[in-house]
Amino acid sequence: MMKILFLVVCNVLLICSYENCPVEERQNVNYSSCSLTSVPRSLPLYTVLLDLSHNNISQLKRDDFSEMPALKFLNLSHNNIKEISDDIFKSSMKLEYLNLSHNELYNIFLVHVTELKNLDISYNKFALMTLGSVFGSMEKLECLSLSAETLQRHELKHIKSVWLKNVFLGFNNLLDYEHEKTDTITIVLKSKYCIDYLKYKRDCYVGVALLQRKANFKVTSLTLIDVRLPWNYLTKQTLQSSIKHLNVHYLNIIGQIVTTKISKNTSLETLKINRGTIYSYFFLQNDLYDFFINMMIKNLTIDNTPIVHMTCPQSTSILKQLDFSSNAFSDRVFSSIEEPICKTLTNLNTLILMGNKLEKLHQLSVTTKYMKSLKYLDVSANSLTYEFGDCTWTESIIVLNVSSNSLDRLVFKCLPQNTQILDLQNNQIASVPEDMVHLDALKELYLGSNRLLDIPDCNSFRKLEMLFTDANSLHTPSINFLSSCKNLRVFHAGNNPFMCTCSLRDFAMIKEQSGIEFIGWPDAYSCSYPEAFRGIFLKDFHVPEMSCNLTLLLVTILCPMIVITIAIAVLCIHYDALWYMKMMWQWTQTKRRAKASRRQETPEGLKYNAFVSYSQLDSIWVKEYLLPNLEEDKSVQICQHERDFIPGKSIIENIISCIEKSYKSIFVLSPNFIQSEWCHYELYFAHHQLLTANSDHLILILLEPISQYMIPSKYYKLKALMAKRTYIEWPKDRNKHKLFWANLRAAIQIHLAGPVEGTAESKL
Ligand SMILES: *[C@@H]1O[C@H](CO)[C@@H](O)[C@H](O)[C@H]1NC(C)=O
Ligand SMILES: *[C@@H]1O[C@H](CO)[C@@H](O)[C@H](O)[C@H]1NC(C)=O
Ligand SMILES: *[C@@H]1O[C@H](CO)[C@@H](O)[C@H](O)[C@H]1NC(C)=O
Repeated sequence: MMKILFLVVCNVLLICSYENCPVEERQNVNYSSCSLTSVPRSLPLYTVLLDLSHNNISQLKRDDFSEMPALKFLNLSHNNIKEISDDIFKSSMKLEYLNLSHNELYNIFLVHVTELKNLDISYNKFALMTLGSVFGSMEKLECLSLSAETLQRHELKHIKSVWLKNVFLGFNNLLDYEHEKTDTITIVLKSKYCIDYLKYKRDCYVGVALLQRKANFKVTSLTLIDVRLPWNYLTKQTLQSSIKHLNVHYLNIIGQIVTTKISKNTSLETLKINRGTIYSYFFLQNDLYDFFINMMIKNLTIDNTPIVHMTCPQSTSILKQLDFSSNAFSDRVFSSIEEPICKTLTNLNTLILMGNKLEKLHQLSVTTKYMKSLKYLDVSANSLTYEFGDCTWTESIIVLNVSSNSLDRLVFKCLPQNTQILDLQNNQIASVPEDMVHLDALKELYLGSNRLLDIPDCNSFRKLEMLFTDANSLHTPSINFLSSCKNLRVFHAGNNPFMCTCSLRDFAMIKEQSGIEFIGWPDAYSCSYPEAFRGIFLKDFHVPEMSCNLTLLLVTILCPMIVITIAIAVLCIHYDALWYMKMMWQWTQTKRRAKASRRQETPEGLKYNAFVSYSQLDSIWVKEYLLPNLEEDKSVQICQHERDFIPGKSIIENIISCIEKSYKSIFVLSPNFIQSEWCHYELYFAHHQLLTANSDHLILILLEPISQYMIPSKYYKLKALMAKRTYIEWPKDRNKHKLFWANLRAAIQIHLAGPVEGTAESKL
């Protein structure tokens, strides 16, 4: 048994009546796909729509719907219903839509359904479709879906007076269809007899018998699905019928294809062939093409069919719309060797060549040259490119769809100049050149899914109202376009990789300031970089004025910094911070050095921490300040010549022995010292080369400033020491004395190994 595979719905009417009922009264109950085995009890009293499709209900009981007086839509499709009680809908007086398709019904007998507009009983087990006299009461029926093995002649006689808007028929064997009052019929035929065309029976194309019906046959639209038609049947009967719109899906043309004379008298206006195939191997291509293109019809669609070419009509054609979507057309669409440009399609209004194999935009412009009525051209989803050459577009083109091709920026030099709507989506355009064709009528420009780095200005299309630049490479688009795009109302720049930095601030704000409608705002506008801002919507992206405005930044950040710096400098000078810093530095240095030398062995034979030498004139300072302060720490031993010199030795011998026994030598420098004492030491220093080899041992305290010129030139070593500034100055400020002494103490700090008692004794 053949299965009929076609799902039938007539929901146009359903939607409008459904919309009419006030929202608050609506009661929709959806039990679709709930594995129910029977109609649920206690459904809401005011249920209007009840969906019980895709369950396992096998039986409907007498009172299943008795408590639903408001029920209008009942969907029972895809169940296992075998039987229905006659008066099951006796309380559902309002039922308008009843879907019983895809069940196991062998028979049907319905009463009390006088309001029914839409009845679907297709795909059941009816062997013979017999619509009893009860159907006569369904005066409001508009949509009827039936299927069975066979539909008997006169079967629809009971609903003869009903005007059917939509009829769907699915039969293995359709002997005849006799219902004059029908607008549109869809017929699904699938018969085993048709597989082998050599043995085909009339039954296979019986649906087409409708085409040649009597004069009062009113069907205007016929859809045939999956049919095999012999070429001569298709070409003759089709044109002679009263049908206006013929759609054929899965058309298989059988029989021999021959040159066909075209009848001028036809009611056919629209012919749509979808997925056509030809079961004939030897024929002239032009016999096939010439027939279709020369038919006296207005709309011709041949899609999803592997044709590569179409011929040019022999005389001026009345064709208004040609749709050759998803075929295999190459650039030479209507041209031939004899006639390179087709001149007879002058009434053509719409040409759709979407999804073919067109490659040259320039060639396409030549094709349209004489199509003086062509307004709408769709060549999307081809492989079009343009490099150079004059383009000869017909000036009538208003809508041009070249989306999903391989065009780059040069396309702007080859465009029909009166275009109002231009779709260039999904190409390779990186920018819009300045020297492009002026499109003074352009209102809508779609540039989504290209490679734009910035938003183009409207200098070449000043009337632009809608601009789409979504899904490009806009990082930080400028807002310069606003000045030339004065008429812009709708704008789309979503799904771009926005870089949320200062440069984007102006752009993020135009939404608020310009009054332009932003498509996709705010969801489609989010930051991609920097990482910290990723995913943040542009509407929430705020950077403070200050971090973006350089002048403001300078004023607000640099000014306080300068003020603070000056203040610090003033304070430093006032409190002599430099001096403190220098002292601290020296102190830490000596501490570090002391630590390092402590690790070494303490030199043998040291008796004193320091030897102090000074001019007699400075002795008061030494005695009152230096000694008490240094010796405050009891472990410090100072060799002072007045106190510790050994009698009997010469002064110089004493000094030398004292220096040798001391860890450091402190010289209290002052003009007096230089004049009176320095010469004593010069000798020794010269002898021991102390100044050069071990100037570490030397601590020079500058008690009073000494200018370079006061030092006699023969004391060049002292000059050198002074020039190197390796002395420490005695501060006049009392506050600094503490640090001065601490520093000095640290400099002479050493653990004396030798017996200091001797000195202590001598002290005593
Ligand atoms: C009824 O169910 C079928 C199958 O699920 C579905 O195609 C149809 O749209 C439904 N009709 C209504 C009115 O919900
Ligand atoms: C025929 O083509 C025109 C455009 O040229 C269109 O407006 C009309 O809807 C088409 N008719 C049918 C039935 O497709
Ligand atoms: C252009 O064609 C594509 C399909 O190929 C369609 O999605 C798009 O909406 C069309 N553009 C216009 C402006 O009609």
